[in-house]
Amino acid sequence: MNTIFETIKSVAFEIDNAIKTSDLGYSDSENSSGEDQLKLDVQSDIIIEKAFASVAVVKNLVSEEKEGVLELNEAGKYTICYDPLDGSSLVDVNLSVGSIFGIYEGELQGSNLVASAYVVYGPRVELVIAEQNKKPMLYRAIGGEFKEIGSITLGKKGKLNAPGGTQQNWAPHHKKFVDALFMDGYRLRYSGGMVPDLHQILLKGGGIFSYPATSDKPNGKLRQLFEVIPFAFIYEQAGGHAINDEGIRLMDLLPKHPHDTSPCFFGTDYEIIALKAMYRMKF
Ligand code: AHG
Repeated sequence: MNTIFETIKSVAFEIDNAIKTSDLGYSDSENSSGEDQLKLDVQSDIIIEKAFASVAVVKNLVSEEKEGVLELNEAGKYTICYDPLDGSSLVDVNLSVGSIFGIYEGELQGSNLVASAYVVYGPRVELVIAEQNKKPMLYRAIGGEFKEIGSITLGKKGKLNAPGGTQQNWAPHHKKFVDALFMDGYRLRYSGGMVPDLHQILLKGGGIFSYPATSDKPNGKLRQLFEVIPFAFIYEQAGGHAINDEGIRLMDLLPKHPHDTSPCFFGTDYEIIALKAMYRMKF
């Protein structure tokens, strides 16, 4: 597993460098020397694929950028499902973006996720790694390497509310839930990048991030294997909760297809109890 984490650290530096040095990533454009430009998310995908190709414990790779499974080493133990550059359109407006990695052993389903990690590319580059029976650990890139900063523990109640999706497409009970949080003093914190938005709630001790079922996206927008399940693991390891709109733990999801999505809610005790009450979920 350590080789996987070390590989994630090295790709984080390469992707950060690509973000900082590439011409802005419009896929159909050419750069100043007339070469076709690769979109940053495609570039990031290639960086990750190349780096893991030589890691023997990795059996397969599944990328958010591609259909299907890439077989790497038959004798490998783990499948890594990853989103190489989540929220990549935010690079164009200079907001933070991230990479997400879910490490699975066996069938691709929540209960088989054994570790996960994400990288935030912001004013600083930060990495969070979560393993079983441990609090997630925060690392910061300092002087060309990742230094351990400390473990992450969520509190019981936060102050931040990150509500995803287009409001006019929310169900009435979801709108009521979001409004009630604001009436309760919660502050809006939503950049449109799930990595920095979830990172902020984790580091500030609590709150809620939601991406509900909407009339235009009845199964939500965020992908189970690459986005939802890896973050669910991190939130639960930090002492928080991660459920869908029926109150089912996101870690219990059984995706039928690698790109299946799910409505999702990540938060601390107080907000998740309020959510369950408003959605009339079982306690
Ligand atoms: P994309 O990778 O297509 O840019 O999407 C980003 C994701 C996720 O990071 C974020 O939380 C969500 O889309 C935002 O979606 P809305 O704008 O619909 O709220």
